[in-house]
Amino acid sequence: MRIDKYLAASRVGSRSEVKDLVRKELVYVNGKVCKDCSFHVSLEDEVCLNGQNIRYTEHVYYMLNKPAGYVSATEDEREKTVLDLFPEKIRKGLFPVGRLDKDSVGLLLLTDDGELAHRLMSPKHHVDKRYLICTKDPLTEDDVRAFSEGIVLSDGTRFRSAGLEISEDDPSTAVVTISEGKFHQIKRMVESRRNKVRYLKRLSVGTLMLDPKLKEGMYRELTDEETGLIMTI
Ligand code: URA
Repeated sequence: MRIDKYLAASRVGSRSEVKDLVRKELVYVNGKVCKDCSFHVSLEDEVCLNGQNIRYTEHVYYMLNKPAGYVSATEDEREKTVLDLFPEKIRKGLFPVGRLDKDSVGLLLLTDDGELAHRLMSPKHHVDKRYLICTKDPLTEDDVRAFSEGIVLSDGTRFRSAGLEISEDDPSTAVVTISEGKFHQIKRMVESRRNKVRYLKRLSVGTLMLDPKLKEGMYRELTDEETGLIMTI
């Protein structure tokens, strides 16, 4: 593969930006400066830019700690989208896997890997998702039982059995575990119990957990280990 393609695919910059980097003699292949954009490299070659190793990756996987006020979409006429939190050169081809409501915060996975996204979002695919919630009124053992039995709304919508672990310190705080991803699911489940969600933060998707060091609005690439985890979800 050409060095400019390798660098652009690794999201170092656009094709014209990476050509510039090569011309400025900032790119090294196996320790030797590479001045030719058409130079061919293989996946075994060591490619460095400014002393940093550039790993070729076919797809990218990011974890975002979504802040409130952003919609989980790639574009929207009126609202800010989660992609607005990423710089232009990373944004290309990226989309959120699944959805968090505009006012929800926490773990959101973004990728350009359509196959993985399709698999994770399939309604047949039941992956546990954990959320921290705060409610208007205290939660009760009756709520725990109702969540566990599965909730049926008056319009016939059915939610499968869900976990509700109420905090010992504050009965208006709980961790909810659901295995589906229906529209406003937790808010509607809580409303069916004549209560209201005031705050909702996604903590994990399957075995992938939100990095506690990641502040709201910040993102980072998944580590190799985390990428391995999402492949087996
Ligand atoms: N359930 C909701 O109601 N909202 C979310 O954002 C996620 C789960």
